[in-house]
Amino acid sequence: MAIEKYEFLTPDQIDHFMTYGWISIPTCFTESQASQWTKDIWTRLGYSKTDSSTWALEKINMPTHKSIDARSFAPKAWGAICELCGGEDRIADISRQWGDNFIVNFGNEELKGVVVGPRELDNWHVDGDHFIHYLDSPEQSLLVIPCFTDVLEDGGATYICPDGIGVVAKYLRDNPEGVTPYMARRGEEHGWHDFQWFCEQVMDSKKCNLFQQMTGKCGDVVLMHPLMMHSASRNSLHVPRVITNPCVRLKEPFNFNREDPREYSLVERKTMKELGVKGLLNWKIKGERENLRPQRENIHARMKELELRRLAGEDVGPVGDTGVEVHRELVKGLVWKAPV
Ligand SMILES: [Fe+2]
Repeated sequence: MAIEKYEFLTPDQIDHFMTYGWISIPTCFTESQASQWTKDIWTRLGYSKTDSSTWALEKINMPTHKSIDARSFAPKAWGAICELCGGEDRIADISRQWGDNFIVNFGNEELKGVVVGPRELDNWHVDGDHFIHYLDSPEQSLLVIPCFTDVLEDGGATYICPDGIGVVAKYLRDNPEGVTPYMARRGEEHGWHDFQWFCEQVMDSKKCNLFQQMTGKCGDVVLMHPLMMHSASRNSLHVPRVITNPCVRLKEPFNFNREDPREYSLVERKTMKELGVKGLLNWKIKGERENLRPQRENIHARMKELELRRLAGEDVGPVGDTGVEVHRELVKGLVWKAPV
């Protein structure tokens, strides 16, 4: 069903999404909702909230214990998510579950006051470490960042590259056999190091020149096109920044060949705009849709066990696994299940 009338997105927000591939929805939940939802963070980490000398890590991706329903927790954000994706009926129910897998960027003493530019970052990627990627992949249909603290400029805000959407879209269009989450074609997985492809694109000034930081107030939710290249940034303020990255999954793959053009979702329109087409009549995937099981899951299982022991009052010391280690392990696990 085509969306007849947008109830959550304003014309300005739609224009902004079609131009830059992202929008920020303000005040989707209250500070009190945020503090209630994040209240166990410090116990789970084994750090003191008030003593920065206990913050052993610069940044961490925490595991999930429980989830909340985005439709009731942040109805404005959920409404906007549905409208960007072409309606709630196209979205898998699991997408409503927002986990407490917080991503905390603490910074550290050495980084205080040091501003690191986007091309100096080494963490550029698109989300979706659990499947083989195609242009129409339904597994990651939007990139969502709820802000559970204020997210300040140079304070660990996610860096994005809006003009990279077209770069990624063209690469996926030209590789219908599918690629790993790190854009490696079949057989090339071991010749690439983790974020190499993305970092190369970002370094190329003929392709990528616009970089923006996704700042916001506590309660804001940033919504981005799924092919948005982004990177964790360095926190020069040493004030902890807390976000999550809930995944929105479609029931069916994106469709770039709809009979009625009014049926195209805004995300599909943005993809096609970046490709300079009104539709992709003869484009089809030429591989199997495959799920991957990233090593991240094993690491998170270990981290979760320790967090549960800390929550039960046991002294098991502060957290030792970092987000960086999680990503390194994750990359090692990224091979095709059935090489041909
Ligand atoms: Fe990401």
